[in-house]
Order: sequence, then structure tokens, then C-alpha cells
Amino acid sequence: MNMKIAIWDQRYSVSVKSIDQDHQKLFDLLNQLFEAMTKGQGKNIIGSIVQELERYTIYHFNREETFFRTTGYSKANEHIAEHSFFKQKVAEFKQNINKSDSTITPDVLTFLRDWLVNHILKIDKAYEAHFKKYSIQ
Ligand SMILES: [Fe+2]
Repeated sequence: MNMKIAIWDQRYSVSVKSIDQDHQKLFDLLNQLFEAMTKGQGKNIIGSIVQELERYTIYHFNREETFFRTTGYSKANEHIAEHSFFKQKVAEFKQNINKSDSTITPDVLTFLRDWLVNHILKIDKAYEAHFKKYSIQ
């Protein structure tokens, strides 16, 4: 059984190859987290996936934010604020795993998935036309 909670498809494309690949990688990490949770894995395994999720999220947000700067994107500030909020949440979840015996709960996983999906469809999609003008890939 190979269940997934996040499946990337063309609806999520922002027409920038590197960013679409990042989003696929983030979906993959959420699916890994889901699988680990479903199998009742302990905090070591769950913690290391969350650690990688945090690392990759920061790496990915930095890529987008660099594109905002190099192209002078007008909605950069609001967008970066959204990124900061999510980074803070991921850091909190990671700390909770480290300091207690709990791993991760289904509602945390749902929060991560819903936030990411909404962010891509509403906030990221808003830069699609702008990045196209600059041929950002
Ligand atoms: Fe973003």
C-alpha cells in the first residue's frame, strides 16, 4: 500500500521548472511523512523527515525570494511574510518532536499539506506572469 496525501499535477505548475521541481520535492517529503506516520514510526524517523522538510523549505523559499529580488517583484513583501509564517510553523513542529515523545499528528500533517497547496495555487501562481516576462526557469 502506497498512500499519498499530496500528488503534484499540472494544476500546480507555475511555469518555472526549478520551482515546479521544488514543489514536487516538498510534496514527496509530505508523502514520506504520511507514510512514516501511517506505519507508526518513532520520533527518530519522523524527526529526520521533518528536519529535511525544514531544510528543503528554506532552500526553496530562498530560491523564490532571490527571483523576487532579481526581477523586482512588486508583491515580494507579502509573499516573504507568508514564507516566514510557514518556516516558523515547521520549526515549531520540529521542536515539539525533539522535546517530547510525540511524533507528528494527523492535523499537523494536514496543516502542512493544506498550507502548501493553498500557497502554490494562490500566492505562487500570482508571480507566474511576472516571471514569464523575465524567462525565469
Ligand atoms: Fe512561495
